[in-house]
Formats: sequence, C-alpha cells, structure tokens
Amino acid sequence: MKPDLHKKFVVGNWKMHTTTADATHLAKEIADGLGAMNIVDRVSVAVCPPFPYLGLVGEILKGSGVALGAQNLYPEKDGAFTGEVSPTMLLDLGCKYVILGHSERRRILGESDAFINQKVRAALTAGLDVILCVGETLDQRNSGQTEAMLDRQLTQGLADVSFGVLNRVTIAYEPLWAIGNLGHHATPQQAQDAHALIRRCFARIYGEKSAQAVVIQYGGSVKPENAASMLTPYGVDGALIGGASLRADQFLAIVQAGISEAQVIGKSA
Ligand code: PGA
Repeated sequence: MKPDLHKKFVVGNWKMHTTTADATHLAKEIADGLGAMNIVDRVSVAVCPPFPYLGLVGEILKGSGVALGAQNLYPEKDGAFTGEVSPTMLLDLGCKYVILGHSERRRILGESDAFINQKVRAALTAGLDVILCVGETLDQRNSGQTEAMLDRQLTQGLADVSFGVLNRVTIAYEPLWAIGNLGHHATPQQAQDAHALIRRCFARIYGEKSAQAVVIQYGGSVKPENAASMLTPYGVDGALIGGASLRADQFLAIVQAGISEAQVIGKSA
C-alpha cells in the first residue's frame, strides 16, 4: 500500500554514509524519537540505509512504525549478477520501499530511463513499493526544458507500469541543482510548480484521478529550517531527505514539520 494520502510521507536517504555503529545509533534514535512523539498515525516515515546495514536497521526499526527502504536494486530475481542485489533479497530483509532513478545513479552510474524502468517494473512485480526520482539540471531549467525532462523521465520510467499498481509508486521531485546544499535552493513555489507539471504528465498517461492521487515528495536540501515551508505548498506530499536524514534530531524535526502540515490539510479538508 502506498502511504496514506492524508499523511505526509517523509523518507531518509542515507546514501553511502554510516558504519555499523553509526547506523545502529541513528536507527535507534529515530525509532525512539518517533515513538516518543507518538505520531506514527499522522505521518508515514521510512529510512533507506546502505545495503550492508538493511538487516541491522530493520531489526532496530521493528515495531517502531518506521518503514525500511533500499536505495537501489538489480532487476532480476537471482542469478549470475556479481555484486548486485535483487528485489527478493530486499523483501527478505524487510524492505517495503526502494528508491529508484536517483539523480546520483543517473549521473554517476550512467543509468538510463530504460534501465530504471526495468527496475521499477521488477520492484513492483516483486512486491516492493517504488520511490521514483525525477528532476532537471540547472541548465535544463534555465533553458526552459524542465517540463520536457520531467515528462521524459516519467513516461519512460513508468513505461508498462499498469494503472493497477500505481498506488505503490511515489514520485520524488529532486531538482539536481538543489541537492546536497549546492547553494541553490528550490523555493516552495518552484516545488509546487514542478509538482503540478508531474501531475499534468500523470493525467496524460493515467487520467486525472491518478494525477490527483499520486504522492509526490520534494527532495533537495530539505532541512529543519525550511521543512515547514517546503512541505506546505499544495501538491507537496512529503520529502526525500539526504544530508539532514543523517542526524536524528534534524530528521525528526522535519518529520514534525510534516505533521503540522498534515494537520493543516486535515483541518481544511
Ligand atoms: P539532500 O539530498 O537532502 O542532501 O539535498 C536529497 C537526495 O538526494 O535525495
């Protein structure tokens, strides 16, 4: 099942960070912190540690209400694929989600939309929920290609993904120029506008109802200081957090901001 529509969906992407000790500590702090806030029924939260720590973190998170996700997979069940990790293995370790199409994998590892699409379909078939990342570069934005880029990444990334499993797909809008504190931050308005473009693309492929229903996160330098404003705009359903998810206090502060916004939405609904 996808996250509840009336809740914000906040996910921590730990990227290639932490050690056994760090991952243990961070997962405990998040589980304990969230437990103390007593809010798991008002916000959906997941963390995505590196592969080697999935089992460990999964054990710590058991019963906490924080879901486990992975940062990647290889689109085959099993076989001679040295160094790769299958959807089945991720499920076996307790993962509910997998992040696919992250810009770092597109840019550094050269992943194509077609390959990402194979992964999306393999994940959904196996039973994992997908967080599909899309976003434009600064050059693309400045030359007016944002919509075309989002459209291409969505159309190709979701090719042959049937309407019936769409409720297990979350989209993360992550403009490349806003990731990792590069000095450029998206404004709430820019996030809202891009999310509207994504919904327009969804409407074209899957119809208006799906466009309204799809959960779209914003990602790119979300911090406690800007979380409330980044989670506020209409159509921003949550956040995918990199750097700030490595500090439990910061991550929990962002989750808290998500709840406040969910409450506002709940009141006006
Ligand atoms: P950031 O990363 O929060 O460090 O900008 C976001 C992401 O890459 O998912």
